[in-house]
Amino acid sequence: MQQITYTSLGRPDSFVRDCSNILALARRNNPELGITGLLVTHDTTYLQVLEGPGETLSALIDYLATDKRHSGFRVLRREVIRGRKFYDWAMAHRSVTTSDPAALGIIPALAAVQRAPNPTDSEIRALIEQMLEFDKALGSHL
Ligand SMILES: Cc1cc2nc3c(=O)[nH]c(=O)nc-3n(C[C@H](O)[C@H](O)[C@H](O)COP(=O)(O)O)c2cc1C
Repeated sequence: MQQITYTSLGRPDSFVRDCSNILALARRNNPELGITGLLVTHDTTYLQVLEGPGETLSALIDYLATDKRHSGFRVLRREVIRGRKFYDWAMAHRSVTTSDPAALGIIPALAAVQRAPNPTDSEIRALIEQMLEFDKALGSHL
C-alpha cells in the first residue's frame, strides 16, 4: 500500500466545472482500483493525496499527470504505508477558503510548500498532517 501526495494548478476559466467532472471520474474509477484519497482545492490549486496498491497508484498518477485540466504537476511525497490513513473515500473533496475554520491550518501549510522551489521534508509532512486533520474533521461531520 502506498500514498502519494501532489499539487498542481487548475485552469482558472473552467476550474469549477473541471473539478466536478474530475470528482465524478474519481468516484467512478477509484473503487474498482482500490484507490481512496482526498482532493483539496484552494483558489485554482489542486492538492491531492491518493492511497492504494503501488502499481495501480503509479499507473493512475502517470496517467493523470498528463491530464490537460491541470499543469505544474509536482509530486510532494510518496511513501509506503501499512494501511490507509485517509477515510475510506473513493475521493473526498473539500474546497477550502480563508473563511473556513477547518482550513486554518491547511492554507498556510500549502502556501509554504508552494512558495518553496524544493520544500523540505518537514514542510511536506506538516502539510500532509494538516490534510489528515482536515480529513478527520470531514469524516466526523458526515
Ligand atoms: C487534479 C486531478 C485529479 C484527478 N484524480 C483522479 C482520480 O482520483 N481518479 C481517476 O480515475 N481520475 C482522476 N483524474 C482524472 C484522470 O486524469 C482521467 O481523466 C480519468 O482517469 C479518466 O480517464 P479518461 O479521461 O481517459 O476517460 C484526475 C484529474 C485531475 C486533473
